[in-house]
Amino acid sequence: MNRRSWAEPFKIKMVEPIRMTTPDEREAAIAAAGFNTFLLRSEDVYIDLLTDSGTSAMSDRQWAGLMLGDEAYAGSANYYHMEDAVHRYYGYKHLIPTHQGRGAEHILSRLLIKPGDVVPGNMYFTTTRAHQELAGARFIDIICDAAHDSTSLDPFKGNVDLAKLQTVIDRHGAAKIPYVALQCCVNMAGGQPVSMANIAAVSALCKRHGIRIMLDATRAVENAYFIKQREPGYSRKSIEEILREICSYTDGCTNSAKKDCLVNIGGFLCLNDDELAEEARNMVVLFEGLHTYGGLAGRDMEAIAIGIGESVQYDHIRARIGQVEYLGAALEKAGVPIVMPVGGHGVFIDALRFLPHIPRDQFPAQSLAAALYVESGVRAMERGAVSAGRNADTGENIFPKLELVRLTIPRRVYTQAHMDVTAESVIALFEEPERVVGLRFTYEPKYLRFFQARFEPVKGDQVLRRGQAERVPVVQ
Ligand code: F0G
Repeated sequence: MNRRSWAEPFKIKMVEPIRMTTPDEREAAIAAAGFNTFLLRSEDVYIDLLTDSGTSAMSDRQWAGLMLGDEAYAGSANYYHMEDAVHRYYGYKHLIPTHQGRGAEHILSRLLIKPGDVVPGNMYFTTTRAHQELAGARFIDIICDAAHDSTSLDPFKGNVDLAKLQTVIDRHGAAKIPYVALQCCVNMAGGQPVSMANIAAVSALCKRHGIRIMLDATRAVENAYFIKQREPGYSRKSIEEILREICSYTDGCTNSAKKDCLVNIGGFLCLNDDELAEEARNMVVLFEGLHTYGGLAGRDMEAIAIGIGESVQYDHIRARIGQVEYLGAALEKAGVPIVMPVGGHGVFIDALRFLPHIPRDQFPAQSLAAALYVESGVRAMERGAVSAGRNADTGENIFPKLELVRLTIPRRVYTQAHMDVTAESVIALFEEPERVVGLRFTYEPKYLRFFQARFEPVKGDQVLRRGQAERVPVVQ
């Protein structure tokens, strides 16, 4: 058969130079950042794989759209464009724009949660759970067991375990469950998709008990691509049709437009229920801004409207996920332990298998992310115990089964050569894992600690100082 490679469905019109730093500069930078890649200055980063959030390259049409910003306080034309795009592609009745995803999560949580409630969901996300807890609920994980196993090749590791959901309903009663939180391409599980069959089954179960389903649609387009690739009956459906079908099983969504929707800032809340939407519009005025801008400039809403249309193009999403799979394949070939199958928005390294010599309470994933930065200037992110935080009741550290380093790929930003350099630097550390040493907190913030926490390197009980033989890590 005649095999053809495919390439990105765009060409590059403008470039942003990036700077390569020396190992000494990077050692100083990571120490100054308290060994937390969130605290690095981006000008000290070579290839920035911290997140796919707000880091996409916008198209020429989106940039042109910025010039069409209607910055009226109320009733901006761009709001109506965004509303049209959300209706057309996501299909919900009411749109409430917010400054980003967590703005929508805040409003949804305040709107529906009463103290003492429980919110079942297919794995927690940091900001989502934090808002649920702030509103007085307890989050209960109902994701399938395969999601916690980085080696399982299940094609839909984001699926809800229906038996776990049923147990939560039986134990707490439907009245204590304001909604089921259903996330597409589950971030903390490695970007793993949910199948349409599972979404339909969750919906049927919830309907029987009169419980709402709220979708976290942040990466629903990526999820739609996996359904098209992997689920029987969907290969001939368009991404657009699949996306609408996903949303049709749910009562509303929160969305961080900074991911799928190809913009640098923005989010939204959607609801089908008229009364709830009215309450949400009352609330958005308090926390975000008037209901026709929700904390966004008119130009931002225009970029979202255009970006949504671009996001569902098959050629776009195939190239986006194709690039993530390319990096995953390079690491897998070298034997690097990664979450399999490779997910939608990044490649997740299993730090427990990568660094068996570092105990969990010395945060292997945090240590590996810091070491990778020193190795090559590639910035990754910890998604393990530091991100998981402490148990809200006991105050103990939570040690989730997955202790991951996320190499998150921004959309339309880096080339295949950047992926090659990334793979080479991960592999260099994998060949000498003993170069990486554990970390301990020197500062631990109360909320979402991973963003601003600071650490110092330890070996056994001993704190390592810069310049010691086993400084973190020794780079040639
Ligand atoms: N839900 C999911 C699944 C997310 O991944 C994020 C953000 C949010 C909600 C919150 O949206 O950032 O616009 O307020 N994830 C980013 C990340 C921060 O790097 O994964 P936001």
